[in-house]
Amino acid sequence: MEVRVKTGAIEQHDADAVIVNLFDDRRIGGATQALDRALNGAISALIAGGDLSGKAGETVVFYPTGAIPARRVIVVGLGKREEFSVETVRRAAAHAVVKAREVGAQVVGTIVQGSGAAGLAPDVAAQAVVEGSLLALYRWRGLKTGDDDTPSVEALELVVRPGDDVAAVEAGARAGQAIAEGAMLARDLVNNPPNVATPTMLAETAREIAGRHGLRVEVLDRADVEKLGMGAFLGVAQGTEEPPKFIILEHRPDAAGDTVVLVGKGITFDTGGISLKPSDHMETMKSDMAGAAAVLGAMQAVAALDLPVHVVGLVPATDNMPSGHAYKPADVVKAMNGKTIEIISTDAEGRLILADALCYAARYKPAAVIDLATLTGACVVALGAGMAAGLFCEDDALRGRIQTAADATSERVWHMPQFKEYLESIKSDTADVKNSGGRMGGVGTSAMFLRQFAEGYSWAHLDIAGMAGVMMGEGGPTAPYQQKGASGFGVRLLTEIVRNWS
Ligand code: BES
Ligand code: MN
Ligand code: ZN
Repeated sequence: MEVRVKTGAIEQHDADAVIVNLFDDRRIGGATQALDRALNGAISALIAGGDLSGKAGETVVFYPTGAIPARRVIVVGLGKREEFSVETVRRAAAHAVVKAREVGAQVVGTIVQGSGAAGLAPDVAAQAVVEGSLLALYRWRGLKTGDDDTPSVEALELVVRPGDDVAAVEAGARAGQAIAEGAMLARDLVNNPPNVATPTMLAETAREIAGRHGLRVEVLDRADVEKLGMGAFLGVAQGTEEPPKFIILEHRPDAAGDTVVLVGKGITFDTGGISLKPSDHMETMKSDMAGAAAVLGAMQAVAALDLPVHVVGLVPATDNMPSGHAYKPADVVKAMNGKTIEIISTDAEGRLILADALCYAARYKPAAVIDLATLTGACVVALGAGMAAGLFCEDDALRGRIQTAADATSERVWHMPQFKEYLESIKSDTADVKNSGGRMGGVGTSAMFLRQFAEGYSWAHLDIAGMAGVMMGEGGPTAPYQQKGASGFGVRLLTEIVRNWS
């Protein structure tokens, strides 16, 4: 879909539909009022008649039949004025464009919602409108054959009044588009079946992103990671015929200070290995590379926006399979930093591949390393599906940056503890550490395991097991710009962290 910025008045804008909005106090103002006047009070009449209330998510479509150039008017409800935030704009935009698509509108004009009386800066409002719209219109067609008969919106036009800050709206719209495209790339990667989204395919995607946006890319294969001593990653990868890949993407702007490393768990399918998972819902484990997808999507957005920060994306990618040469419980593997790990469960594989990636991250002397991983079912039990990512970070400054970005993007995180007593349950008689501490405190012990490999830099771990998507885990709440399937969680959050870095 194309996103364009146009100057003019919404009541003079030619489109298949134009979008305006209303708070639930039904006090009409700004662009909605201007449009109402041009329509001889049609919107006021809808309010008076009780057809339009302004409650959040409500959409009312009517036909101006020649009174203005546009074929349709869509009024979207914003809900309570005192609860207004940038998320209100994302959601309102999402509801409105989905309605526009439903009625077959191909060119849709919209006011820059939130930039009027609600008081958002024009770039922030424009970004939210574009993000909400693009993410809401995303569809996963998958590998279905046959014709697609659902209509699609071809262009979204942000209509800016003459005299308003067009440059700011343009910049915000561009940012919104780059970020939404990153999130949609992540959704595609997660939605794809695991025989398509293989480690090789993730590596190819990284190469494509690099080619398009001028990133440095390097893909290490089995022999390369053997030379590096990544015994934990290799332990997981030894059970599969599918070639493992360790993907490195690097955004190196001319004048960069700090280095930020993003690490994503790339288990392209998690059967559990020899510690085999039950077959019910095992298919949802195609989403076990959602961390990797988020890192690839964020790297694309960071590069598209050419942010002035040195950012490295690391993705260890393999599937986790049982086989005659699979690793097994009681095996001991050695990570890149020399630490030995006793395998208790081959289903605690994410922390093993992350261990080596976290060791590798140290070579960049990073100001921060942030990893994203669908790491534990325990995190979903603790916080709920679709509620928040578990955030493990004991550096107040870094945690503050992540929290600020989470507030801005509504990609929610929740601070979890790193009690040193968790270490007791991952002590091994045979190795330096074991890979599972059992059922109790499973999310805390997984983080304490990772911590042993995140040495020499400031580190944050985000357990996104409950956030990868609707119906991927257990359902949970969703926004109107999300559909069944992958959420793309983490792309907006990570990009926002990098945008605010310097
Ligand atoms: N990929 C899973 C975690 C997961 C569970 C993600 C549900 C999304 C939804 C991970 O590899 C796993 O199997 N974790 C085990 C750890 C246990 C064996 C210590 C778990 O959570 O049961
Ligand atoms: Mn597992
Ligand atoms: Zn897993």
